[in-house]
Amino acid sequence: MRKKLLAGNWKMNKGIKDLAPFFKDFGGEIGLSSGSSPLNKVDVLFAVPFLQLAEARKITAGTGIRIAAQNVHFEASGAFTGEISVSMLKEIGVDATLIGHSERRQYFGETDTTVMKKVQMCLDNGVTPIICIGETKEERQSGVTNEVLSRQVSAVLEVIAHPEQVIFAYEPVWAIGTGLTATNEQAQEAHAFIRSLLTKKYQDEAQKVQILYGGSANPANIDGLLQQPDIDGGLVGGASLKPADFATMVKAALKLS
Ligand code: 13P
Repeated sequence: MRKKLLAGNWKMNKGIKDLAPFFKDFGGEIGLSSGSSPLNKVDVLFAVPFLQLAEARKITAGTGIRIAAQNVHFEASGAFTGEISVSMLKEIGVDATLIGHSERRQYFGETDTTVMKKVQMCLDNGVTPIICIGETKEERQSGVTNEVLSRQVSAVLEVIAHPEQVIFAYEPVWAIGTGLTATNEQAQEAHAFIRSLLTKKYQDEAQKVQILYGGSANPANIDGLLQQPDIDGGLVGGASLKPADFATMVKAALKLS
């Protein structure tokens, strides 16, 4: 059985001073310090702003909580003012990053090609890419959701030898930060479709890939989402900023594990 993964995406929120109180509260809520760690059963990750990565790693050391970046550049080094390379992440022990979040596609010119190059850079250096894909409202309304997902997935397949080296996040753009969530059925349908694309190339190995749902996932709707056979967890924005809310979501995953 695939392990569930609850991943928080803090986006451009929180500062270094917020880290210790957040992780103290969150750890208390999920019972991190008591006996056997709940994180043996469920994976928990936070994608935090670059400047918070080192401190977040320090504070969560030994807890099993994984700290990830939200982006990385596709070149190894060079004249790319304002960018961060994979080796810089690795230097501080960060071994995972979001790639191709829709906000990066929408506001910062991320394309299927840059996403592919970033995934390749990550895999060449032992960093886990969490590859974000999903359709816009217009695309869903005009019935091209599967075409969009196919295009986004096939853009990265050529650089992925073994699919369990990556994590996918299905994030319908119309559900991000809007309070609108895909229904359990809509989400399951998209996840099953994504897995079918992976199965075509990797056969049984596709069963090992964690595919997360993102888009207004919250304590009230996470149970139903996590019960879907192809939904292996959540990539959570707003609700991951509040320790109690995110802990409730982790506990929902623990109940099913
Ligand atoms: P919200 O949970 O705030 O809708 O954000 C989802 C998201 O973009 C996670 O990457």
